[in-house]
Amino acid sequence: MMLNARKSILFVCLGNICRSPLAEGVFGDIVAANGAQDRFVVDSAGTGDWHVGKPPDRRSVAVARRYGIDLAGLRARQVAPADFDHFDLILGMDGDNVATLGALAPPERRGRIAQFHAYSTGTPRDVPDPYFGAEDGFETVYRMIRAAAGSLFEKLDAETRGVSG
Ligand code: 4NP
Repeated sequence: MMLNARKSILFVCLGNICRSPLAEGVFGDIVAANGAQDRFVVDSAGTGDWHVGKPPDRRSVAVARRYGIDLAGLRARQVAPADFDHFDLILGMDGDNVATLGALAPPERRGRIAQFHAYSTGTPRDVPDPYFGAEDGFETVYRMIRAAAGSLFEKLDAETRGVSG
């Protein structure tokens, strides 16, 4: 029998209000556009706790809305120990996020952690923190996330499709 595998992915940044909600929304949009909702579970979290319970930054909500993606219902949460058991892939937006995740994870789970851009495209690159910058930083971050998320989907699409079971 052919079964589709299910892959769970947690996108992680510092605050879970700017970059990782965008990555969650954009990757979810690509998954939906490809009719692959049965093969992917997508979530996001922050390494910090300052914004827990808050919706994404209005600048992330605005840039996503321009591209037809609704982030308004998301709420920030902090990475929890159980995430290292529950998610197959835990993708940090920048090197600091990856280092923090590595320090939080039990050693046997560290293999699930990678830098989002490096894992997705093969090229290590930080998705820069746009929080303290200008509005146009969000457009730049959106484009970077959109391109890498497309590569991520292509990479995982074949892996999750038609596994023998
Ligand atoms: P994010 O951006 O990590 O992309 O959600 C940030 C949001 C808030 C803060 C830092 C980064 N902050 O210091 O409050």
